[in-house]
Amino acid sequence: MPSLRRRAKPLLAVGAVLGPAVLAVPAVLGALAVLSWAEAVIATAVLLLGALVCGLAAGLWLLRRSVLALATSVSGHTRKVTEVLGQDRLEIARSLEEVGERLTRIQDHALPKTSREIQRAVTVQGRHDYEQQVAWAELREYLDVAPFMPPLRGWAASPDVLRLLVRLIDRHRPELVVECGSGASSVWIGYALRRAGTGRLVAVEHEARYAELSRDLVAAHGLDDVVEVRHAPLTEVKAELSGADPEGTVESAPLWYDLSRLNDLDRIGLLFVDGPPQATGEQARHPAVPALLPQCADDVVIVLDDADRPDERALGDRWVVEHRLHRTEEPAEKGAHVFTRRVPAVPPASNAVPEPEPST
Ligand SMILES: C[S@@+](CC[C@H](N)C(=O)[O-])C[C@H]1O[C@@H](n2cnc3c(N)ncnc32)[C@H](O)[C@@H]1O
Repeated sequence: MPSLRRRAKPLLAVGAVLGPAVLAVPAVLGALAVLSWAEAVIATAVLLLGALVCGLAAGLWLLRRSVLALATSVSGHTRKVTEVLGQDRLEIARSLEEVGERLTRIQDHALPKTSREIQRAVTVQGRHDYEQQVAWAELREYLDVAPFMPPLRGWAASPDVLRLLVRLIDRHRPELVVECGSGASSVWIGYALRRAGTGRLVAVEHEARYAELSRDLVAAHGLDDVVEVRHAPLTEVKAELSGADPEGTVESAPLWYDLSRLNDLDRIGLLFVDGPPQATGEQARHPAVPALLPQCADDVVIVLDDADRPDERALGDRWVVEHRLHRTEEPAEKGAHVFTRRVPAVPPASNAVPEPEPST
């Protein structure tokens, strides 16, 4: 829109040129004696008045045009702004509708489902907590332990699996118990062996600092005569002992406890597999059976902790197939699987008379 000043410029130019010329006419006519000086003055005054009126009219006309142009421009802008605002409101309304639909979906489906899941998880956790408290109380009472015992659960074994181990110790009275992965459980198993009055525990530990900690714990409970914590770092083992399977589906690093430190273990009656930790490799606990089964008693009982984890379940499946073991699943918060041999380690001679089944 051109400004008022720009529009007025040509008129002012015309006025500046023509104005003095027209105003000069009465003076010239006065000088030529066509008009008297009085008439010339009056004529000049009239011309001046006319020029003033014309100037005002032109100014008003220009002002009106500018106002009209401004009004048009403002109404154009107003229309555009209204259009944009209208579109925005439409989009906001659409978004609000979508949000509303989503909220309804969440309220109708997701919230009840999540709340059901939370309720179920809380119930399961509550049941686990109750079970562990019962097992803890039973262990304390049965084993007659020190007033301050190393806490269980978390990184350590749970009370329910320890109760299972105590029962197995009482039933089988193993001369040698081997535990893969030392810690709080080493102390509890030590008390169980002391109560049984027979057997000793070798707790194998790959981390030197934890071996030291576990040793201190055992000493603090006065169990050194029953429990030996043995440091055996993880080293490469032969491929057939490693967690890797022949089909190559498990790409475990061939790492397990240094076997040269375990040579002397003989006639293991109870093997508790609670290490190495999962972080050390896929199916990291698989080597326990291929490596130690030849050093186990015929009636060995093997307990695998954390058996609810897919990795432990899978390596247990392999033990069953590869080493002809029988598996029982015990109820425990982290899962505990118990393995025994399906066939005797040394098959009886063909002419041997089978021993009669003990009468019950
Ligand atoms: C699954 S945990 C179980 C250890 C043991 N069987 C028990 O139940 O207490 C296995 C590993 O935890 C580590 N560990 C031992 N003492 C620990 C402690 N005080 N805090 C954290 N980790 C520990 C050791 O390296 C051990 O081999």
